[in-house]
Amino acid sequence: MTDPHPKLALLRPDDWHLHLRDGASLATIVRHTARVFARAIIMPNLQPPVTTVAAAAGYSERIRAALPAASPFVPLMTLYLTDNTPPSEIERVHASGFVHAVKYYPAGATTNSDSGVTALERVYPALEAMERLGVVLSLHGEVTDPGVDMFDRERVFVDTLLSRIGRDFPGLRVVLEHVTTREAVAYVREADAPIAATITPQHLLWSRNALFVGGLRPHHYCLPILKREAHRQALVEAATSGHPRFFLGTDSAPHARHAKENACGCAGCFSAPAALEMYAEVFEDAGALDRLEGFASRHGADFYRLPRNTDHVTLERKPWTVPDQYPFGADALVPLRAGETMRWRVADAAR
Ligand code: NCD
Ligand code: ZN
Repeated sequence: MTDPHPKLALLRPDDWHLHLRDGASLATIVRHTARVFARAIIMPNLQPPVTTVAAAAGYSERIRAALPAASPFVPLMTLYLTDNTPPSEIERVHASGFVHAVKYYPAGATTNSDSGVTALERVYPALEAMERLGVVLSLHGEVTDPGVDMFDRERVFVDTLLSRIGRDFPGLRVVLEHVTTREAVAYVREADAPIAATITPQHLLWSRNALFVGGLRPHHYCLPILKREAHRQALVEAATSGHPRFFLGTDSAPHARHAKENACGCAGCFSAPAALEMYAEVFEDAGALDRLEGFASRHGADFYRLPRNTDHVTLERKPWTVPDQYPFGADALVPLRAGETMRWRVADAAR
């Protein structure tokens, strides 16, 4: 008889793009990721942003203090690049051993990006130091020109700023975050440079139609925004291809329910409670479950020059229902797939 609940063991995965926020709600948020993932790249777009190694050390301590007792989860910290980040701070990143990337937000591109980079030239001294020292540049790859169509901002970024960065800093290690277009995928695949890309579950699962099913769907709104179906297919092809330049980064980005269901709703999808399970659906539908481990558990560690994890998680093909919401202070957090049935569950996640 065939097993009614087939199992799939994977090396424990890491999340190479995660927002945990700060303060009282940290414990409610981090537990979802620490349940499944060994490590995560923690994005620095707090208010105020994490712009120094000293600030990253404090934030790392607060994350560790918010973890369930004895959790082995390791936050991999990042700095927020500003027009004024001095090369000496990049030297400190390199020496720190716990800050693993520097994040470039074009000013105004997304949530809490007001202190971001206003012109590429302004950060050339910092990029030069990063290239020299091998520090990873993590890129939010969208232009901010209001004259550029919302759905073209990543493609235009690839054609302009990313191409310039590639030309002027050919040795710079770059992660193009949360890619959403076939042009970004093609650039990453073909570049003669140390570049890689993270891909979120929502960009693999849905085209932009998901924003408008029967009405406006704020919980599917994130940046970069969902694109048309042909782009989604290019992302699925890249993620499931086994190519080592593509790896898992959820971009799980919690915002309170009232801030999402709002006349001016915030960008960000809270995917952490069912993230690995969503990726498993995508890989299964593509007939590529055998490639999930590379994408989730090997390619990212290799790119970041960190050891691969050695323990395992087991996915079980056993349906469960994602809660409608989770508590979030006096408000609530609505996860992706709220109230929906997931095909896969993480079986041995008692961490
Ligand atoms: C992120 C957030 O809320 O911090 N939002 C999002 O839509 N992805 C910021 C980001 O990664 O762009
Ligand atoms: Zn993000």
